Amino acid sequence: MKKVELSKGIYWVGVIDWNIRDFHGYKTPNGTTYNAYLIVDEKIALIDTVKKSFKDELVENIRNIVDPEDIDYLIVNHVEMDHSGSFTDIVELLKNAKILATSEGKEELAKHHGVQSEIGVLENMDTLSLGSKTLTFIKTPMLHWPDSMMTYVNEDKILFSSDGFGQHYASSKRFDDEIDEKVLYDAAADYYSNILWLYSPLISRLIDNVAEMGIDLEMIAPDHGFIWRNDTTKPIGWYNDWANGKSSDRILIVYDTMWESTEKMAKAIGDGIKDEGVDVKLMRLKYTENSFVIKELLESKGLLIGTPTLNNSMFPSLGSFLTYMKGLRPKNKIGATFGSYGWGGGACDTANAMMEEAGINMVFPPFEIKWVPTKEELDNCYEHGRKFAKKALETI
Ligand code: FEO
Repeated sequence: MKKVELSKGIYWVGVIDWNIRDFHGYKTPNGTTYNAYLIVDEKIALIDTVKKSFKDELVENIRNIVDPEDIDYLIVNHVEMDHSGSFTDIVELLKNAKILATSEGKEELAKHHGVQSEIGVLENMDTLSLGSKTLTFIKTPMLHWPDSMMTYVNEDKILFSSDGFGQHYASSKRFDDEIDEKVLYDAAADYYSNILWLYSPLISRLIDNVAEMGIDLEMIAPDHGFIWRNDTTKPIGWYNDWANGKSSDRILIVYDTMWESTEKMAKAIGDGIKDEGVDVKLMRLKYTENSFVIKELLESKGLLIGTPTLNNSMFPSLGSFLTYMKGLRPKNKIGATFGSYGWGGGACDTANAMMEEAGINMVFPPFEIKWVPTKEELDNCYEHGRKFAKKALETI
């Protein structure tokens, strides 16, 4: 197989997972890649490994470039099993390599793989010379786990960014300039919203720190998806916007329905929003995965949740979605709830409370109707949509 060279002596040796569709509960319709990198200098370093079931492909890719026994360092940027699942097998094969990780990484390697061997602990901004190339290690705890670290090659200006700036996208292409920008944007947004959104304050700080350090970035090489070499300011700009809660003024209506009453409300509210000149998107949870809705929410200003009352509580699909969303702490969104009920009600109150806990600014009290909405009640829904749209426009 032809070698994939990022820069002189720096290679991609990762693998492509064409068929993964569920990544610990997050849906991945486009598959993913597990990127590992090899730096060949006077000393040779391997950055990260891959998921266990892809070990043989990683070994083949390494052998295509060097004898694994000649590798001097195994640098563990991140211990999550998609990057360290094959760690034990690879360490056995490397034989002579010194393992380097953060102190948190050392602890996690012990717990995940029972590693007893010597591990060199890296501190933030430690450096390592490989000969003509110098590596600088930047600790990035919680992007995505406590152990997370990025590795920068000073001379080539390449940042191996671990989970940061990744995308779950399987492709025979490796670089951003080989892919349509809209595909890249959507893949990066999907990844950010489902994996990193919770850590937005840390991302803002990281971007500020990198700017202060005056680090030039010719290339950003993440552990998933395409390598950014065309214009690294582009993904950084997107991350900056997402981390700071910037979005369009679009409003997302997420709902489910039992006998179509809540759906009728959703459509009437949507009409009101549209007639106020604001873009609106309706998503029924029966037909849409939580992780797809989350990506749409990242790009929306407002969230309206519609739920019927079932057994005095929310419809179960709404419970699942709101639990998932709460964990991601969406930033800078306005919200409200609506729905129909037969006798006791209560679903909207529960949903309202969960949205508040998630940090959403609830701008109206729950809006409920009994049984099937009348023409007059649907007119009220339409007006409710218009009022909500006006609020969204005020807060842009
Ligand atoms: Fe791609 Fe947090 O692992």
